[in-house]
Amino acid sequence: MKKFLIVLAVALVSALTLTTMASANGGPHGGFTPTTDACAGCHRTHTATGPNLLILNSTYALCTTCHGTTGTGADSNVIDGVWLEGRNPTDTTGDANTLINAPLLAGGFNFYKGVATTSNHAVQETTAAAWGNGVNRGLTANLAGGNMNCASCHDPHGSPNYRIINAFVNGVAVNVAQVDEGATKSYDTEQWGAGQSAVCAACHSSYHQTTAGSGSALAMVATGGYTHRVDMSYSYTGPGGTNVNPEIVGFGGLKLPLAQTGTANAVVCQTCHLPHGSSAVMTGHANSGALPGNTSATDSALLRLTNRATCEVCHQK
Ligand code: HEC
Ligand code: HEC
Ligand code: HEC
Ligand code: HEC
Ligand code: HEC
Ligand code: HEC
Repeated sequence: MKKFLIVLAVALVSALTLTTMASANGGPHGGFTPTTDACAGCHRTHTATGPNLLILNSTYALCTTCHGTTGTGADSNVIDGVWLEGRNPTDTTGDANTLINAPLLAGGFNFYKGVATTSNHAVQETTAAAWGNGVNRGLTANLAGGNMNCASCHDPHGSPNYRIINAFVNGVAVNVAQVDEGATKSYDTEQWGAGQSAVCAACHSSYHQTTAGSGSALAMVATGGYTHRVDMSYSYTGPGGTNVNPEIVGFGGLKLPLAQTGTANAVVCQTCHLPHGSSAVMTGHANSGALPGNTSATDSALLRLTNRATCEVCHQK
């Protein structure tokens, strides 16, 4: 089976690279010509083995043929969360600005920074139940499109959004500014623009609270409890002191990314969370039982940093 996949990956790469070099989205994703051979790299008209006429039995299997651990078709290995240059020598997308062996921006599904992940998004079509999906925070409701896979978030055919995020995620229209296309594309240093939180809000709508003081606003209790505000500037002054810029100053060498373009220095969902998976460790008070509202030793809730470093990098209490 493995040998078959490798042969298939090589076939896919040679079938796709010729026609897709000019695509702004990178790789085989979009920029198709009327006579493109790219469709046949992923689809079969009468002899498909997977739904959506795919040449493999699932979307996950297809994506990881190139983006997986043993893939040869893409430099981004999203399973181990690492950029491996030269896996696809004919596609130069991201090569100039992404360091070899750098951790990927989205994290990793099975490993991140060389450590096994403690939480990830379930992309192998095992669940559709998302927290706060049109229901209160702390409650789950199923996604419109059924179980989650890579194509729940990304459009393999290209998209006007950053990182080929679907124009509609979970049936919700999503706009994420395309900010680092072409030669500046970097898969290890974020250059986020407007709309980053919209990706997450499409499936976790009730977490997207943007009003000032939501952490103490009684109105929030009706939607699942008080909640930390998002999509505002990082700066805050409370009785105990003033926030530092988490992206430039940070705390003890730890930093957190902010969205710059369009929404200057904004705190977005991805400031605290990684979209694919995280290997952060939760111990002591941070290890306090099952979701919702709690992280545990075995579940880091996709958070970037260990324990409550996520809070301290801004608030420095
Ligand atoms: C990189 C692989 C890849 C390439 C190249 C590709 N597709 Fe797809 N396509 C997919 C996947 C994966 C799905 C299923 C997405 C899902 O799981 O929801 C899909 C779904 C579709 C669908 C049904 C869903 C929809 O978007 O309407 C159509 C139609 C389609 N592809 C047409 C094409 C055509 C035409 C081409 C060539 C121009 C093409 N595809 C090239 C991977 C690919
Ligand atoms: C929950 C939504 C979501 C799912 C599911 C998802 N991705 Fe992503 N992915 C993202 C976001 C958001 C980014 C942009 C990260 C950034 O630049 O900050 C991204 C980035 C990427 C990148 C660029 C490299 C990087 O890490 O930034 C690749 C390649 C990729 N995804 C492939 C995949 C594949 C393959 C799957 C399935 C195995 C998948 N994604 C599943 C949201 C998702
Ligand atoms: C034939 C190989 C191949 C297949 C199959 C494939 N990709 Fe890619 N993809 C690439 C290459 C090459 C790039 C350019 C970056 C790189 O080398 O990692 C890329 C880039 C991407 C990016 C970054 C786009 C951007 O705007 O920077 C995402 C996201 C992505 N792929 C998701 C997917 C998903 C989801 C699937 C499955 C539906 C998939 N890919 C299937 C080869 C592939
Ligand atoms: C300031 C950091 C921060 C930001 C910004 C943030 N989160 Fe969280 N999130 C957390 C922490 C910490 C947890 C773990 C829950 C806990 O232990 O309190 C968490 C947990 C979650 C969970 C798991 C279920 C639960 O309630 O525990 C979901 C879903 C979630 N966040 C979605 C989002 C979305 C969507 C956004 C953007 C709209 C977002 N988060 C923004 C820190 C953040
Ligand atoms: C396509 C729908 C979809 C999108 C988009 C999406 N999620 Fe999720 N998310 C889910 C589902 C379904 C689950 C529950 C199953 C699982 O853990 O993967 C989940 C679980 C989570 C959890 C709990 C994970 C754990 O194991 O503790 C967090 C945290 C989270 N999502 C944050 C985010 C953030 C941040 C974004 C934006 C980058 C995002 N989600 C985008 C569907 C989505
Ligand atoms: C990226 C910077 C940043 C991070 C990380 C961060 N915060 Fe905040 N925090 C803010 C800002 C800005 C405000 C002011 C929000 C507003 O305008 O309502 C705030 C407000 C608060 C408040 C006051 C809420 C109210 O409305 O009364 C508390 C409490 C708080 N944060 C706790 C936390 C905790 C706990 C964490 C870690 C899970 C955390 N913060 C992570 C920036 C941050």
